[in-house]
Amino acid sequence: MISRNDPCFCGSGKKWKKCHYPEKGNSSFDELKKLYFKQYQIILKTPEQIEGIKRACKLAAKILDKVCKAAVEGVTTNALNDLAMKLHQEANAKPAPLGYGDPPFPKGICTSLNEVICHGIPNDTPLVKGDILNIDVTSILDGYYGDCSRMVKIGEITPEKQLVIDVAYECLDRSIAILKPGVLVSDIGEVIETYATNKGCSVVNEFVAHGVGIAFHEAPQIPHNFNKVKIPLAEGMTFTIEPMINAGKRKSTIDPIDHWTARTIDGLPSAQVEHTVLITKNGYEILTKI
Ligand code: MF3
Ligand code: CO
Ligand code: CO
Repeated sequence: MISRNDPCFCGSGKKWKKCHYPEKGNSSFDELKKLYFKQYQIILKTPEQIEGIKRACKLAAKILDKVCKAAVEGVTTNALNDLAMKLHQEANAKPAPLGYGDPPFPKGICTSLNEVICHGIPNDTPLVKGDILNIDVTSILDGYYGDCSRMVKIGEITPEKQLVIDVAYECLDRSIAILKPGVLVSDIGEVIETYATNKGCSVVNEFVAHGVGIAFHEAPQIPHNFNKVKIPLAEGMTFTIEPMINAGKRKSTIDPIDHWTARTIDGLPSAQVEHTVLITKNGYEILTKI
């Protein structure tokens, strides 16, 4: 992995950070694109690809908004899944989770309730007062992917549940606010874990954020906790940030029967929120905002 202090790939003999480093703007897009794929398997997107990804992201965000509004007391997560399936169909799009992975994910969205950290599978249990629910929508439109999730509250919730929700949103906002070319992938986890632990919460480290756009899960993997991934962000990167914040221990267990549902090991609540973002010349754009 090439790092800031290594010699620049152009052969100048200067350190990369003093030469063709992304924030310096000395590289042509084509040069950086080749370097990023070779070094990191990261696909820097062309303007045409960005247009397609933006459309997929807008659709995912709109569907997520509608499904969140339908999540009220008495509704089952299966009914929310049905709604998401219908909205994808109407838009000539596909929900990326359906059939994804091994074993194939059985539904079109993830619905993660209370102590479920992520990858919850919609079922026939009605939502009840006091529940907190993460709804995660990933849409494929014309071959492009957009990925986002939000938290929904059913009636009054405990202060502990409110805390994990507030911290998750704040972690997402704060980590997005620092994004621009040259910022390191590791800076994202630093912002998130610093804030969350200050608030007495823990940050899940067994699931990560990811590049997205041309495929569901692209390079790089982006941890939400302290890490040593010294990859500088570059213009044209599209990726998610999706911190999972626990009230208690950070550790998860995977359901031994469905092999997907990830729960907190201590049964305490967990919250997650997610956006897909684009790195621009001087900063970022949130693509899954409605
Ligand atoms: N949408 C999730 C993410 O943010 C991934 C879900 S994978 C699935 O990356 F198969 F469970 F849908
Ligand atoms: Co994601
Ligand atoms: Co997602």
